[in-house]
Amino acid sequence: MDQKKFYITTPIYYPSGTWHLGTCYTTVICDAIARFKRKQGYDVFYLTGTDEHGLKIEQKAKEAGVTPKEFVDKKVANLKALWERLNIRYDKFIRTTDDYHEKAVQKIFDKLYEQGDIYKGEYEGYYCVPCETYWTKTQLKEGKCPDCGRDVSLAKESCYFFRLSKYQDKLINLLETNEEFLLPKSRRNEMINNFLKPGLSDLAVTRSSFSWGVPVTFDPKHVIYVWIDALMNYVTALGYAGEDDTLYKKYWPADIHMMGKEIVRFHSIIWPALLMALGIPLPKRVYGHGWLLMGQDKISKSKGNIVDPIELADRYSVDAVRYYLLREIPFGQDGAYTTRAFLSRLNADLANDLGNLVKRTVAMVNKYTGGEIPAWSGKKEGPDEEVIALAEGTLAEVAANMDELHIPEALERIFRLVQRANKYIDETCPWILAKDEAKKGRLADVLYVLLECIRIAGVLIEPFLPDTSAKVLASFDRLGDEEKSFDGTTKFGTLRAARVVDQEPIFMRVDVDKEIAEMESKIERNEAAPAAPAVPLPPEITIDDFAKVGLRVGKVVSAEKMPKTDKLLVMKVEVGAETRTIVSGIAKWYTPEEMVGKQVVVVANLAPHTFRGVVSEGMLLCADDGQGNVVLVSPEKAMPSGSEVR
Ligand code: ME8
Ligand code: MG
Repeated sequence: MDQKKFYITTPIYYPSGTWHLGTCYTTVICDAIARFKRKQGYDVFYLTGTDEHGLKIEQKAKEAGVTPKEFVDKKVANLKALWERLNIRYDKFIRTTDDYHEKAVQKIFDKLYEQGDIYKGEYEGYYCVPCETYWTKTQLKEGKCPDCGRDVSLAKESCYFFRLSKYQDKLINLLETNEEFLLPKSRRNEMINNFLKPGLSDLAVTRSSFSWGVPVTFDPKHVIYVWIDALMNYVTALGYAGEDDTLYKKYWPADIHMMGKEIVRFHSIIWPALLMALGIPLPKRVYGHGWLLMGQDKISKSKGNIVDPIELADRYSVDAVRYYLLREIPFGQDGAYTTRAFLSRLNADLANDLGNLVKRTVAMVNKYTGGEIPAWSGKKEGPDEEVIALAEGTLAEVAANMDELHIPEALERIFRLVQRANKYIDETCPWILAKDEAKKGRLADVLYVLLECIRIAGVLIEPFLPDTSAKVLASFDRLGDEEKSFDGTTKFGTLRAARVVDQEPIFMRVDVDKEIAEMESKIERNEAAPAAPAVPLPPEITIDDFAKVGLRVGKVVSAEKMPKTDKLLVMKVEVGAETRTIVSGIAKWYTPEEMVGKQVVVVANLAPHTFRGVVSEGMLLCADDGQGNVVLVSPEKAMPSGSEVR
């Protein structure tokens, strides 16, 4: 029988910045899916790589005083080391500077030109260098790039265009009729309503203002637009338009293109249009996941809020990082990184639930049966029936979740078994059974049930937490292929290993408060660079001048967005015995939900001011770094509302 194929891709990464926790999100997610499919018996091809051309790289290399190729070589080496550190098991790493890729891109470009899908014209637009994207005036948001918020510059050049407009109806039809093509659903609606329905313009697909790119064969002062070059990687990596297209024939179309939501537009509009033009089948699914946020921002180097994944991995283990990313962030949505959530997950699930189950069970087997794994009588008493059914049913439910890309839910289901097994210890009290010679048989069965739960959970966590899985399974001396297989998790009683083996603790509990203090001070140090530009101080004041300002601690009890503006929040703030309405221009940095419950510092004797018809009775203190970042000032520990600030 033909083995089923599964082709999954990450976007190819820009090798330009510093890698941070958010960078790892797409790759870790894809790794877990790819490993899961492999364990299910699929023939998997997992592709990742780097997107190395374009003006941004050319400029960064220049700043660093090296050639673009030297610049990217070094970055790529760093990125590969990061993936290795995180146990990412990809099948291929493509670089867009690879010779075979450049040649294939040229061949594809020639073909599109020859058949009339690419033509020569002139372009004028607003260019955002970091995003390598042209925008029209109406697409700009307050004169800035609508994706990243940075400055754009007006540029005009003679260039080649791809007839994207020709594919508009086909694309609308694709997104409207194929509900599986683009997920989650919200992104599909966004693409249809915001981009497709208003009308597609033809796309400028060459640049002549810089040279770091793939040259157009028949007009070499033009280089191919980096996004066209980049998207092609998904097929050129398999040998399409190259010398040997065996892999292309085997694996294309992709089962999943995974990516962050900001590049869904390229993958669900431009990419399918290019494929349609080339007569290539479309990928089965494009998935746009959310962002890992810190505060309100997407984690990124340029915003100065780096959480270094290697530092986290060195301190808490690779699997702590993987587990956090896979389990804690609701898949498809944005999730805010907090050190507390990271460490609490580590303590609760990995150290307490999983770590303790293994530790307690192995210790009991050592104590009561001299380390020997007892045979199972097959008799079921008390909670056995329920626990066994839960264990045997785990794979089916986890697999269903994985097919739906409900990744945190898949993990949650495995940990439900772990928690149930811990409860089983408390219900069966092996230490009481051990005191009664007549209960020896029952004790043996109880220990066997626990060991089976550990084996089954240990096998099923492999795709998510490969190191931890290996550690858990090393508690058995020793497991055969069936005992380690996915299929073997559906048959209770498969465990045949002879003895248990003592292990180092799987996860150590950490002191959350102590760790947070250390971690946050690190993040703050990172955030401190670059320093905020100096704002000139106002003239000196006396203590009496200062005493005129009535500062009080307040607590936000409700908050909502001011209609028709994305700047203002309207809040009810409790200040001592009274509740005030306060309007604050912080909507760009804080959501209403986030504000509720927060302690703030209120300028409580400020003359009332009316914003869009709402009277604001005071003002909230904020820190502003002059570089677009604003954070609220709060008392360092909770204080009664109404407390004086002086
Ligand atoms: O966009 N949270 O590359 P890239 C979640 N070269 N995901 C994040 C993230 C965060 N804070 N920061 C980055 C590109 N990512 C193009 C792709 S494909 C033909 C070309 C994710 O290096 C991001 O969403 O900017 C994307 O999936 C991946 O990192 C690479 O982003
Ligand atoms: Mg990006």
